[in-house]
Amino acid sequence: MSPNTPSPRLVPEPTQTGTSLPLWTYASEELLELEYQEFFLKSWQLVGHVCDLPSPGDFLTFDLWRDSVIVLRGKDRVLRAFSNICRHRASRLLDGRGNCGGAIQCAYHGWSFRNDGTLSGIPKPENFPGVDKSELGLLEVRMEIYRGHIFVNLSEEGPRVREMMGPIDDQVAVYAPEGYEPMDDPVAEIWECNWKLAWDNYQENYHIPIGHPSLHRLLVETGEGLTLDNGINTGIFVLRDKPSSVARERRYQELMPSTDHRYPEGKRRRWLQISMNPNMGIEYYPDMFSMMQILPLGTARTQIKMIHHSPPNPSAEEREMQAIEVALLDEVNAQDKILVERIQRGVQSSGYKPGPLALEESGIHDFHNLVRERLPVTRLPEAPMRGSLAQENARLKSQAPTKR
Ligand code: FES
Ligand SMILES: [Fe+2]
Repeated sequence: MSPNTPSPRLVPEPTQTGTSLPLWTYASEELLELEYQEFFLKSWQLVGHVCDLPSPGDFLTFDLWRDSVIVLRGKDRVLRAFSNICRHRASRLLDGRGNCGGAIQCAYHGWSFRNDGTLSGIPKPENFPGVDKSELGLLEVRMEIYRGHIFVNLSEEGPRVREMMGPIDDQVAVYAPEGYEPMDDPVAEIWECNWKLAWDNYQENYHIPIGHPSLHRLLVETGEGLTLDNGINTGIFVLRDKPSSVARERRYQELMPSTDHRYPEGKRRRWLQISMNPNMGIEYYPDMFSMMQILPLGTARTQIKMIHHSPPNPSAEEREMQAIEVALLDEVNAQDKILVERIQRGVQSSGYKPGPLALEESGIHDFHNLVRERLPVTRLPEAPMRGSLAQENARLKSQAPTKR
């Protein structure tokens, strides 16, 4: 445990309904700027798995609004993360994923960086008298590998992933994610909504019976989920015994015993869903892994990114399950996109006051409380005067007690 980092603690179940953030917070560019600084630049973001980068020179990039990170395996086989910026005049270096061989060459003037990040070559070096190449390597970004998953963090703040996951690590260990294999490339889509609405939606299962009939036919929540005081919570679902009325779902149910050999008695046929503030849903299914990541692009424009991985050596039955699972998840995402974009239209209209949050929506309440704590300006019922939001937030922060 890092010095001064308190251990994550369990939060008791809520007994009272909560209140949502005021509507203006979903449409303020000035607030989005603070949210980016306060939440996205200070949080761990899952970018992939070690199995995605097996060979020296393999890289992937992760774009987070204005920022971009490269994760790269060096000749020494070590994985490192760097800012995706050339040290000469800041050109973006790499896009997507691939293999850069022994070096990355900038497309602008041709500076070259070895796959361990050090600067190897400058064209026409006589142009740079007195410049020390050893000081101009790529800028390293904080990176952590947790059970095979690669996380990056653009700040130096906060505890390590394994500390944050501590109380739920045994739940994750059941799925042995260290051994995962690549399944397909990440996919991304655009939702026309504020990022917080997409995250609100992810954090509550109150909408499942109406919004996602397929999930409702297949699964039931066990009530064994945990809520931690560090913004992480889990839900555990089991497959219903009753055969679904839909053939594809019945087939998934029939195939489920083919995954039993992977899990101990009592841990089979379960789905573990982890919400990780401010923007990631991490889901372990018996047949595959899936992550949903919510990345702001503007006040009403959000990228939804999905990553899948497979347990090792999936059988033909498990591959068939994965195909059904991916189709189900695509369908659920398409439903969520419609639902969330309809909320976006609601929060843009005048005269509406937020209604109460259900006990089943306590994840939203906890998240909104976190926003109120870290950005106290969001406690104001109306937006501050244009141009004054950051200043007003700083003023309120200096008055507010630091703990929720
Ligand atoms: S900006 Fe990269 S070499 Fe000039
Ligand atoms: Fe949903």
